[in-house]
Amino acid sequence: MGQIIDVKSIVDQKRQDLKKIAARLKTDYQITPKIVVVLIGDNPASESYVKGKKKAAELMGLDSEIITFASDASEAEILTCIQDLNSDESVNGIIVQLPLPAHLDEETITQAVCLEKDVDGFHPQSLGNLMLGKKGFIPCTPKGIIEILKRTGTEIKGKHVVVVGRSNIVGKPVAMLALQENATITVCHSYTQNLEEITKQADILIVAMGKPKFITKAFVKQSAVVIDVGVNRQAGSKKLVGDVDLEDVLPYISQITPVPGGVGPMTITMLLQNTIEAACQQHNLTLMEETENKI
Ligand code: GUN
Repeated sequence: MGQIIDVKSIVDQKRQDLKKIAARLKTDYQITPKIVVVLIGDNPASESYVKGKKKAAELMGLDSEIITFASDASEAEILTCIQDLNSDESVNGIIVQLPLPAHLDEETITQAVCLEKDVDGFHPQSLGNLMLGKKGFIPCTPKGIIEILKRTGTEIKGKHVVVVGRSNIVGKPVAMLALQENATITVCHSYTQNLEEITKQADILIVAMGKPKFITKAFVKQSAVVIDVGVNRQAGSKKLVGDVDLEDVLPYISQITPVPGGVGPMTITMLLQNTIEAACQQHNLTLMEETENKI
């Protein structure tokens, strides 16, 4: 029987460690890291995620602000706002919640956030740095997934990591991170043929496809570690379910992240970590490195 990974305790531990650094920044340097979230439109899921980020930042003692725009806001308005935030010294991290309304170009908007404040790691140059293995902010969900694997003692090196989904914010960057950890990687997507045959070869299966309970026992190898990135609301119900049918796969696999309470809270924790890191870098402080083995 597989085990449901206790992501909550990993998240609690990390948030406690980060809280200590935030407290030190405040008492020793009078710095309170600040994150600003730009939210455009009225997508209910985005509104809920953004509220969660703000609440988590406050609980950690960080400053946070949500700037909202109507769904028909012009690109020029958004770009002006981002430029103002780029030059505001009290702001350390800026994120623009995705998805954007259809008339806005994602690349133009993500590119407007200056690299130093790109705590989502979505700027094309941040993603390029990740691809090249250079320093830079790493997207929060992929970073959190690798952290969960490391904290559970899952060896990545030499393992076959299969990623289902090729989005710019999860699938592609998590595959790059796994590659950096010396895994052999396969990325599957909607045109992949014989998906089951490929996912069944995964030592570590990372699923980010957005299809409720799609992955059943037929898709997993005995003793695989499964990371479920899906957050789906089932029709007529408020209950969140992942892309993996947890009850169905649990008897066969070794470990799995739950939904809710898995990758989601870890993503927010990584965002807070990136924001504190941004504040440290902007003030030429090395507090994060000093405590790196703890964080
Ligand atoms: N939409 C879904 N996930 C994310 C995320 O991690 N950051 C932003 N900005 N938007 C998202």
